[in-house]
Amino acid sequence: MKIGIIGSGGREHAICQSIKKSAKINKIFCFPGNAGTKQIAENINIDLENFELLKDFILDNQIDLIIVGPEKPLVDGIVDYLEKFKIKVFGPNKIASKLEGSKIFTKKLCQKFNIPTAKFGIFKDRDASKKFIKNTNFPIVIKADNLAAGKGVYISNNKIEAFTAIDEIFDGKFGKANNLLIEEFLVGEEMSFFTIHDGKTFKNFGTAQDHKRVLPGDKGKNTGGMGAYSPSRLINDELEKKIINKIIQPTLKGLSNLECPYKGFLYTGLMIVNNEPYLIEYNVRMGDPECQTILPKLSSDLIDIILACCEERLKETKINWSNKKSLCIVVCSKGYPDNYKKNIEIGKLKDLKLNNNEFLFHAGTSEKKGKIYAVGGRVLNFVNIEDDFKFARDKIIEKLKKLDWSGGFYRNDIGHKVIKL
Ligand code: AMP
Ligand code: GLY
Repeated sequence: MKIGIIGSGGREHAICQSIKKSAKINKIFCFPGNAGTKQIAENINIDLENFELLKDFILDNQIDLIIVGPEKPLVDGIVDYLEKFKIKVFGPNKIASKLEGSKIFTKKLCQKFNIPTAKFGIFKDRDASKKFIKNTNFPIVIKADNLAAGKGVYISNNKIEAFTAIDEIFDGKFGKANNLLIEEFLVGEEMSFFTIHDGKTFKNFGTAQDHKRVLPGDKGKNTGGMGAYSPSRLINDELEKKIINKIIQPTLKGLSNLECPYKGFLYTGLMIVNNEPYLIEYNVRMGDPECQTILPKLSSDLIDIILACCEERLKETKINWSNKKSLCIVVCSKGYPDNYKKNIEIGKLKDLKLNNNEFLFHAGTSEKKGKIYAVGGRVLNFVNIEDDFKFARDKIIEKLKKLDWSGGFYRNDIGHKVIKL
């Protein structure tokens, strides 16, 4: 089979590496991929906003299946578009992708189906938003409705911060804003819960704990994710049942009322408060770096599972996992999540020897004349599967110290909640 993967991050390199193991695969294309995917696939530099160009390439090259990594093309309707040309695509359609594309869509679904989530209000203009803020308690959460590459959420500690957030959103920082969301601040511990869906049924696809802040001790600015571990320390059978019965099932019911079955990965972002799950957000894809953390534990053939989803056969498909612990450290360009220098060579990367339980997934990298350069904010993901989280982390840090890259940094405390020193 020929497979196409859309995206260029660590998530897509992990998917690429996982499907490469399948005997069914003859060739993988990555659109546009990175220096890591280039070693095992053909990178194709195509404008992903131009669905027609992409469709022509897929048809010309007889690609059998497309796997979509990031949210943007999903929210823009790439699945609906490609399916019109009888191309097999794994991912949710445009309506289902509103679960991530519109926070207000999801909140309204929660309201209608009694899904536990933070109390909220939808405000249509600055004045109404600010009037509400004048009589509220802090902290309070203010969110832009639309996709904002993870940046449209403000946790405001006082009136001044809240007013700034409201102004930035209505000034169009995240695209044209017709409204915004103000939410109660939930106090608890976050967890990412993953499922895989074929439109009729779904199966669990692991849990993880991301580390979103840039600095050790969960301090500093929000990022796309600085590292993760799997499984989450919070998961237990009772909590899992609650997440499925109170959150995921009613969401699927809501979508089926819209005649919109869900196909693809679903990432349920939760706040756990006293063993009770509250929905914070849905993402219509795997997480990054959660995907890199979870996939190395999968012992079944990923392409068999994805094909089963495309053909509505997931129910009879077994998904087997290693029960070891997985930890991932993301290495970033100094300055991230703000400005950083690009095109800095990462020395000694090729000298690193990886054991069977160790994985290196590229993200913002590019290869020129055999040398690897950092070209993005999040650059490399090191993953280790062990019996023990601390051992996994120690081994990764040992490897990282061998890199010759003064332009990079990482958090050395990933997993601090499960690693007692
Ligand atoms: P989101 O983009 O919706 O995942 O929000 C980004 C981050 O903001 C989440 O991962 C949480 O850490 C935090 N957050 C969002 N909504 C809330 C809430 N209602 N209460 C507390 N923290 C929140
Ligand atoms: N790691 C957070 C995300 O993928 O949205």
